[in-house]
Amino acid sequence: MRLKGQAALVVGAARGIGAAIAERFREEGADIVIADVEASAGRQTAQRLDGRFVEADISVWQQAQNAVAATVEAYGRIDILVQNAGIYPWTLIEKTEPEEWDAVLAVNLKGAFLCARAALPHMKAQRHGRLLFTSSITGPHVTSPGHGHYSASKAGINGFIRAAALEFSSYGITVNGVEPGNILTEGMKAHRSAEFIRSMEEAIPLGRMGTPRDVANAFLFLASEDASYITGTTIVVDGGQILPEGSDFRINPD
Ligand SMILES: NC(=O)c1ccc[n+]([C@@H]2O[C@H](COP(=O)([O-])OP(=O)(O)OC[C@H]3O[C@@H](n4cnc5c(N)ncnc54)[C@H](O)[C@@H]3O)[C@@H](O)[C@H]2O)c1
Repeated sequence: MRLKGQAALVVGAARGIGAAIAERFREEGADIVIADVEASAGRQTAQRLDGRFVEADISVWQQAQNAVAATVEAYGRIDILVQNAGIYPWTLIEKTEPEEWDAVLAVNLKGAFLCARAALPHMKAQRHGRLLFTSSITGPHVTSPGHGHYSASKAGINGFIRAAALEFSSYGITVNGVEPGNILTEGMKAHRSAEFIRSMEEAIPLGRMGTPRDVANAFLFLASEDASYITGTTIVVDGGQILPEGSDFRINPD
């Protein structure tokens, strides 16, 4: 029960990695609020975890504030905020319309800023808080064609994590992130071909795609007391995917 009695808001948690984070936090005793644009799936997940649901598009300032306010109203405090909502359309830069660029940056990067901005007054007053963000290996470490906007948004999150960690350090608030590799989620299955998923499995030294729970475990660590002296950093959860210098890395274990 590493999070017993703590109030956690997980944004983008109707399904996928976010739902696994909320579930893992709940297993460790946290009170959960889920914020998501998908109301019906979000309500179901919240109900399953005995938590609350608030409908929110995290790229909109008022709605980010509402999500934080709903958490404080429900549980009297907000100890942990995870901004996990993200979109990942696949479009080559030469075909990316400026509107699509703005939409990706609005959710993935501006959403992170809006969450931090909305939670800050409460966490500052509590002199305690854990701000956590879902970044990615895509952008900060690696990339592939079609990920221009996405890579920019996730590399941007890592810069924001460092800046916020420094600014908020005086208030007892830590700011960290997790960089998942390729995690098999509903969103991944919907947006990526079976061929892409096979090629990724071949590129991952540990030989499999990650699970949402693999990522949730890293979030749990960063949200817990065990990580009280860690701020301004990210944990890579990718099965070793960013390690090889080239594709010919497998050795015969015998
Ligand atoms: N799946 C992967 O391999 C992978 C790898 C690296 C990083 N990530 C990141 O992990 C996060 C979750 O990915 P996933 O694969 O679980 O995605 P997903 O599409 O399965 O789930 C994303 C959730 O975010 C919600 N959401 C989308 N836009 C929103 C908005 N504007 N406001 C509030 N909620 C919104 C969706 O409704 C959904 O419930 C994203 O930030 C993604 O970039 C995923």
